[in-house]
Amino acid sequence: MKERMIIDDVRDQYAGVARGELTNESTAIRSIASAFGYSEDELNQLPAEANMGLSCGNPLALAGIREGEVVVDLGCGGGMDVFLAAGKVGAEGRVIGIDMTTEMLERARAGQQKLGLTNVEFHQATIDQLPLPDNSVDCVISNCVINLVPDKSAVFEEILRVLKPGGRVAISDIALKQELPADIKESVEAYVGCISGAILIDEYRRSLEQAGFTSVVVTDTGADLNAYAMASDSGCCGGGGCDADADQAAAEAKEKSLHDGLASAMQSFDANAYAASVRVHALKDGPTNSASNFQEKTMKTVQVFDKPMCCSTGVCGPDVDPVLPKFAADLDWLKGQGHQVERYNLAQQPQAFIENKAIHQLISTAGTDCLPVVMVDGQIVSQAAYPSREDFAGWVGAAAASQGLPVAKPDGGCCGSSGCC
Ligand SMILES: C[S@@+](CC[C@H](N)C(=O)[O-])C[C@H]1O[C@@H](n2cnc3c(N)ncnc32)[C@H](O)[C@@H]1O
Repeated sequence: MKERMIIDDVRDQYAGVARGELTNESTAIRSIASAFGYSEDELNQLPAEANMGLSCGNPLALAGIREGEVVVDLGCGGGMDVFLAAGKVGAEGRVIGIDMTTEMLERARAGQQKLGLTNVEFHQATIDQLPLPDNSVDCVISNCVINLVPDKSAVFEEILRVLKPGGRVAISDIALKQELPADIKESVEAYVGCISGAILIDEYRRSLEQAGFTSVVVTDTGADLNAYAMASDSGCCGGGGCDADADQAAAEAKEKSLHDGLASAMQSFDANAYAASVRVHALKDGPTNSASNFQEKTMKTVQVFDKPMCCSTGVCGPDVDPVLPKFAADLDWLKGQGHQVERYNLAQQPQAFIENKAIHQLISTAGTDCLPVVMVDGQIVSQAAYPSREDFAGWVGAAAASQGLPVAKPDGGCCGSSGCC
């Protein structure tokens, strides 16, 4: 009964958002999407109604979608990820958007019509009961939805059922780093705002494994959850200098209650200390085939955009951050696997930060606190933290072989006690 009420509350709230006027044409809404990993190029492909600033990551970044595949987007909202995936699967493939909210599907279908897409379909259903046959899907994506579902195990079991053997999951979602304060846990605004229905990162991984998935990787992307406040306080429009006209600003103010509610709930606690935007990868066991296995070994380009450091690895001087030698070893391991690795730091290669459009845009929006940023094949996969070898393995599709790691020497790491290399 309580679960039913939660689902009804969530549906009512998102119906209100869909009826409103938040669109991809709003600077604030685009900023949220870019803070969570969408490029300008991707945003420019979308019809206005597809993006309402509701995503918490970019699941397509590492889904490895290929021509001819069948892709399902759980909780597709206005269809932004469906439309981007449609371009990747091509005319021979199919992308199916599932959402329980009528008003969201109306937006999605309007966008489909504008784009003239014939390889896309939308269905109304809750994602714990998918209207799809067994073993029929190559890849399941989802963006900021599973946290909203009370019975997550039922969703994971449904995903496993509809995936083909060897099929894969690429999800962006919110998960918890630690249990939430009691008042946030009970807050309806925080629930519909994708925070208090979230489960711990470890529990997320365990639940997928218990459902029967293999190669499960749940990675904290390091994205700043306060990005949502940009829509609430009107971002650029709060203090003048806005490029939206007054009518649009007024419409946004009226219709952004979800972002408002979330922003006020978030004012009372540090969301980034408790919750994280995560990227989730998992596989359904089975014979692998080259069209449907994202872990197929292909050479990837990994780029690291680092904080200002006095040498190329930061492993020098008297106070070496202990994470850096391990990170340097993990990059060497990646190179050893045949991947191309490029590492830039802001002090020594500022030009690289200017020339890379996505990095330049991210730093302009989020500041240098987002560093280090890691990109794989041109897509941002993590921010504000050094990923682990397991994270890299998930992104490039490799087993994370354990290996003795170099330890920073107390006398000054690789460079002795004299300071920088
Ligand atoms: C935060 S929005 C994300 C929308 C979209 N994925 C995006 O990134 O723009 C959550 C969406 O999930 C849908 N939703 C929430 N719970 C659902 C459920 N149990 N079954 C189906 N859809 C659900 C809502 O209607 C809403 O469209």
